[in-house]
Amino acid sequence: MSILNFKIQLRSKSSGVYSGTPKVYNFKFDILGILYISPFSEEDFTDEQQTNYIFIRLRSMDLIAFLRESNMLFLVFTSFFFLLLIKLKFSKTIKNLPPSPPTLPIIGNLHQMGDKPHISITNLAKEYGPLISLRLGSQLLVVASSPETAREILKIQDRSFSSRFVPSTYRQSSVLPYSLLWSDCDQTWRTLRTICRTELFSAKAMDTYSSVRGEKISDMLEFLRNKQGEVVDIGDLAFKTMFNTLSCIIFGKDLIDLKEEHETRGGLKDSVENILEYGGKTDLGDFFPIFRRLDLQGIKKGGLKQIKTAFSFWEDIIKDRRSQICSPTWSSDQVNSLLDRLIEQGFSDFQINQFATELYIAGTDTTTSVVGWAIAELLTHKDVLSEVEREVGKKQIDFDKISESQLSELPYLHACIKETLRMHPTGPFLLPHRAQETCEVMGYTVPKDTQVFVNIWAISRDPKIWDDPLSFKPERFIDSKVDFRGQNFEFTPFGAGRRMCPGLPLGFKSVELILASLIREFDWVLPNGEDPSKLDMNDKFGVILHKEKPVNLIFKPK
Ligand code: HEM
Repeated sequence: MSILNFKIQLRSKSSGVYSGTPKVYNFKFDILGILYISPFSEEDFTDEQQTNYIFIRLRSMDLIAFLRESNMLFLVFTSFFFLLLIKLKFSKTIKNLPPSPPTLPIIGNLHQMGDKPHISITNLAKEYGPLISLRLGSQLLVVASSPETAREILKIQDRSFSSRFVPSTYRQSSVLPYSLLWSDCDQTWRTLRTICRTELFSAKAMDTYSSVRGEKISDMLEFLRNKQGEVVDIGDLAFKTMFNTLSCIIFGKDLIDLKEEHETRGGLKDSVENILEYGGKTDLGDFFPIFRRLDLQGIKKGGLKQIKTAFSFWEDIIKDRRSQICSPTWSSDQVNSLLDRLIEQGFSDFQINQFATELYIAGTDTTTSVVGWAIAELLTHKDVLSEVEREVGKKQIDFDKISESQLSELPYLHACIKETLRMHPTGPFLLPHRAQETCEVMGYTVPKDTQVFVNIWAISRDPKIWDDPLSFKPERFIDSKVDFRGQNFEFTPFGAGRRMCPGLPLGFKSVELILASLIREFDWVLPNGEDPSKLDMNDKFGVILHKEKPVNLIFKPK
C-alpha cells in the first residue's frame, strides 16, 4: 500500500532550452517507509491517486541546485532539526522500554514490517527477545512472543491490557459507543458480552440453535449436490453458510441466497468483506495521530460508508419487527431471534445494527478462514485426510440433525482443527490490545496507551515449545491436555482473559460441522488435475490471516 505517489519528470536543458523527450519516473513512498522508483505508466495509478501527483520538473539531475532554487534546502534542514528534537524528547521521556531494534527518524521501525508483519515481528523477537517494543511512526507497540509474556498480558495483568487499540475505520464517534469489538471494557461492552454469553453461546443457546446449524449445513450440501463437476470456491460457500447461520440466529431468516452467484458483487457479502478490508487497511493516522482527524487516505470515510451499506440490508427487517413487537397483539411467546430480545430489552435500531455488523464481522471470516486452511492442509496430507475419512465414516451421523454429542465422537477431526489453528492462527496478533495505564511487564515499562500485540503466530511455531512445529501433525493434540480455552498460553487461537473470543463455541462447532459433512459426503478433487501436494500454502496478512489463494474444488459424491 502506498501513501504518497508522485511523478518526477526529468528533462535535459542546454543553452537554457529544454530538449529531448522527458523521462518520467513514478515514486511510490510506501506506508512502511519503502521507496519504490519505477518508470511511469498510467495504468499504475487509480484516478484517486492521480489527483495526488506532485509534478516536479528537474533540470538534469542537479538535485542540490533544485533544492536551493526552491528553498527546499532550508525545509530539509529545519525538518531534520525538528526530527532530532522529537527523537531526543522521545528517548528522554520513555525509559526502560522492552528491547527494541534501532529506529529511524519519523518512521521508527515501520520500514521493518514488510507486507507480512507476523513474520517480520517474529524474526525481530528471535533477535531481541520475547517482549519487544517497536515504534510505528509515533505509536509505540509492544509485542509479546512467548507463553510467559502472553500470560502476563492476557492473564496476570489482564485488567490493565484489556482495552483495545482502535483502527481508524472503527474510530468513529457514531460507532465506538456501541461497539463490542472496539470499546474499552465499559458498561456497553459488559452488556453486550453478557448477551453473547447468555443468549448466543451458552450451552443452552447452542442447543437451541443446533437445528439452525443443521439446516444451513443441509443447504450447503444441497448446493454442492447441484454443482456436480463444477469448480466451487469453498471459502465463498463456507462464508455464505456461516453468514446465514448467524442471520437465522440474529434476524430469524437467511440474508444470502447460496444460489445467487451475483451476491458477491455489490451484495451483502461484498459489504461485510469490504468492512473487514477497510479495518485491515494501513492508515497513516494509526502511526501519526496528528493525521487522524484529516483522514488523508479516506479510510474512516470509506469504512463508515461500508458500515452504512451493510446496515441498509437489514434495516427494514428491524423496523418491521419493531412495529410488530410494539403492537398490542404481541406476546413474548413469539420471540424467535436475537433481534426480538434486543428490541424487548430497549435496544435502538442503531445499536442493533452495530451489534449485528460486529457479529458478522467477527464470526464469518474467522470461521471461513479456518475451514479454508483445514481443507488445504488435509488436501496436502493425504494420510491425515484418509484417517479423518475413516473416523467420520465409522460413525452413523446424520449431519442434517447433528447434536453436539455426536461431534465429540470425532477426536481426530477435532485434533486436525486444533492443528490448523496452531499453524494458521486466524488472528496472528489477536485483536490489538492497549495498555490502559502504565504497567511493569517482566521488569520493563509499558507506557499508557501503548498498542499491545500477542504474537500467537510466533508462539505456535516456536521449536522450543512445539516438536517439529512447521509440520502438520494432528496427533500432537491426541491425548494432550493442551486446549484453546485460554488456560494454555502456548496455544491461544481464541485469545484469553476478558477479551477472549465469546463466539468460540459457535466458531469451533461450525468448522467441525462443515468439515465433517464435506468429508462424509464428497471426495474432494482439485481442478485441472492439480497435484494436491503442490497446493500453494502462502498466507496473506490482515486482521485475519487468510490463505493467499482461495481453495477451489470439485466435489464428487462418495
Ligand atoms: C473459529 C472461529 C473463530 C476464531 C478463530 C476467533 C478468534 C478470535 C480472536 C483471536 C479474538 C481476539 C481475542 C483477543 O483480542 O484477545 C476474537 C474476538 C472476538 N470474537 Fe472470535 N473467533 C472465531 C469465531 C467467532 C464467532 C463465530 C463469533 C460470533 C459470532 C466471534 C465473536 C468475537 C467477538 C465479538 C470478539 C471480540 C470480543 C471482545 O473484544 O470483547 N468469534 N475472536
